Amino acid sequence: VGKDGTRVFDLRMQAGEKEFEDGRRTPTWGFNGDYLGPTLRAKRGEKVAVRIANGLGEASTVHWHGMHLPAAMDGGPHQMVEPGGTWTPRWTIDQPASTLWYHPHPHGATEKHVQRGLAGMFLLDDEKSAALDLPDEYGVNDMPVIVQDVRFDGAKFDHGHGLMQNTGFLGDRTMVNGTLDPYMEVGDELVRLRLLNASTARVYDFGFSDGRAFALIGTDGGLLEAPARMDRLQLSPGERAEIVVRMKPGERTVLRSFPQDNYGDAWQRRFGGGDDSFDVLELRAKQSLRDSPELPSQLGELEVPDGTDSAKERFFGLEMSGINGRPMDMGRIDEVVTRGTAETWTVRNDDGMPHNFHVHDVQFRVLEVDGERPPPELRGAKDTVFVPGGTTVKLAMRFDGPADPDTPYMYHCHLLYHEDGGMMGQFVVV
Ligand code: C2O
Ligand code: CU
Ligand code: CU
Repeated sequence: VGKDGTRVFDLRMQAGEKEFEDGRRTPTWGFNGDYLGPTLRAKRGEKVAVRIANGLGEASTVHWHGMHLPAAMDGGPHQMVEPGGTWTPRWTIDQPASTLWYHPHPHGATEKHVQRGLAGMFLLDDEKSAALDLPDEYGVNDMPVIVQDVRFDGAKFDHGHGLMQNTGFLGDRTMVNGTLDPYMEVGDELVRLRLLNASTARVYDFGFSDGRAFALIGTDGGLLEAPARMDRLQLSPGERAEIVVRMKPGERTVLRSFPQDNYGDAWQRRFGGGDDSFDVLELRAKQSLRDSPELPSQLGELEVPDGTDSAKERFFGLEMSGINGRPMDMGRIDEVVTRGTAETWTVRNDDGMPHNFHVHDVQFRVLEVDGERPPPELRGAKDTVFVPGGTTVKLAMRFDGPADPDTPYMYHCHLLYHEDGGMMGQFVVV
């Protein structure tokens, strides 16, 4: 923490080499290390500054996914950091406690930079959530779970796309926090998992091997109003969820990803990964567990608008070739939004291929999925939502940051091969 109270972080993008437990080694990129990056953490109201140094041989950026902040600090494709260069974005944390993340966003090369290992979590805290009786000891009963799929070619990562894979890169095994075949020792009756789908294209449908239910307590942008009990939870690339799992002494269970029924047609399920299943993370409870208090029945208050005061409606048609029929153009502003207003955005996927939709700077409320009330995992604050082929979602969001007519924010498909290929647009707040 600096003299004026600013919390300062240092992140250096660097090339390295990752060594696995079984001795194989692969070239990787990481922040301050060989693979992934440190978990950053700050409180609501706090001023933060991140000193970024680019130690790579090529230009990149660092984007704060889910963060409400001025467009010039966003780390999108207009804030490139040259090799050997530095960049120090500063902003004030002004949103609820949540599980956010950071990753590069260079136009046309985001998939490559993320899958080489550039990603990390950015956790936000606030007073209201700190006062709740939730598991909150980081690394003890409150665990980051960064899920990525990988494939090996001998000892090395193979980043190539399969012939039929128009969704982008799909791996044939998963890692958690950069570890293959991971397990986690649990020492408390209740363990909180902060799930982040940091894969570049793969959608997961999480559940447990023994079918046990868990409590969903938070989505992308923070805590739900109340815990929701469920046994399956779908997360597309970029989405997060906080779940709480109850364990008995000595017990083991496996967090698994199951085949998904809403993924698309038979072709997409087969070649786009919708039929795949993975053992993601084994939980091993100790022989004696610390008691955990019951989960509170009320958690947070949603700060996302409910659509009733929307000043404008917009429509976004998703196609692999571009959004609303236009591929991304760095020099074109697609939408102009008025500062301080709420809007309703309708997003439709008619493409027959799975896509999702992410909006920078804001958290939104999913008002409807195909005209129906959304399922519990889409009832909290969201910044990314899965939009399977043939689906329409309606989103309500408020733009209350500072105006900047010259610097755009992005909206895009977070399947990074699609984003790189032009499924992205730009908006400014004026
Ligand atoms: Cu997670 Cu525009 O990105
Ligand atoms: Cu983002
Ligand atoms: Cu897409």
